[in-house]
Amino acid sequence: GHVVVVYGGHSAEREVSLKSGGAILAALQRGGVDAVGYDLAKGGLAGLEALSPDIVFIALHGRGGEDGSLQGALELAGLPYTGSGVLASALGMDKLRTKAVWQSMGLPTPESISLSADMDWSAVVERLGLPLVVKPVHEGSTIGITIVRDHGELEKAYQDAAGFDTRVMAERFVVGDEFTVSVLGDRALPAIRVEVPNGFYDYEAKYLSNDTLYHLPCGLSREDEEVLASLCLQAFEAVGCEGWGRVDVMRDADNRFWLLEVNTVPGMTDHSLVPQSAAYAGIDFDDLVLRILATAQE
Ligand code: DAL
Ligand code: MG
Repeated sequence: GHVVVVYGGHSAEREVSLKSGGAILAALQRGGVDAVGYDLAKGGLAGLEALSPDIVFIALHGRGGEDGSLQGALELAGLPYTGSGVLASALGMDKLRTKAVWQSMGLPTPESISLSADMDWSAVVERLGLPLVVKPVHEGSTIGITIVRDHGELEKAYQDAAGFDTRVMAERFVVGDEFTVSVLGDRALPAIRVEVPNGFYDYEAKYLSNDTLYHLPCGLSREDEEVLASLCLQAFEAVGCEGWGRVDVMRDADNRFWLLEVNTVPGMTDHSLVPQSAAYAGIDFDDLVLRILATAQE
């Protein structure tokens, strides 16, 4: 069938999406698939429908694409699309509600609270301890995130995050190692440990810097990696995700894992994690893209 790769859009992650979508489109075309690219910001939903897709490959990150809204429109139009459905996409875009679901199922995720401008900042610090992390609730690619190490930084961190979102959260910061597990179909791909020599895994470290280290194999014992993979698959299923995605996790000094978030349309740029994990499992980028496409019709 005729595949339309939808990318760009209006979210703060537009630039990342243009890269992901461009790479996906090129891979489909190399694979002999009849595919075109479409920037949702340019012609909206009507323009997408005018291209008469048989399948839509969703390569949008953030709100207005990864968050269930486009998925809902495609459901109404009767068009198959890659990745998670309406509910899981919407839930995955809301970090606080994702965590509430995980907590309700007994899955470990660091304690967090929703912040507002009139908050008693001392109470927040008392409850979560320091350092803590302040995040926009619906943002990706670390946009608007601050690690707060000192009480006095909290209010500014809140203001920064509030510049990106109507809702802001604070979360206990897990001191330890950062892992990510990619999911393809119903299978966890090899975990990656991400190490940023001078700082934290922010937008710069994700997409611009060449100093970020991606440890593959991740360095865990076989047993620990199995525990991690199984935890991430449970987390993925708890949210109702489908097709593909990526779960981000921290491991503390006591060797316990803590779920941070699920990404229902993970980055597919040349710096991104899912392609690296797939490659290590013997699935090259072009094959990965075809496999994701195949999940659209399941
Ligand atoms: N939100 C970015 C694209 C990611 O999770 O990879
Ligand atoms: Mg994310």
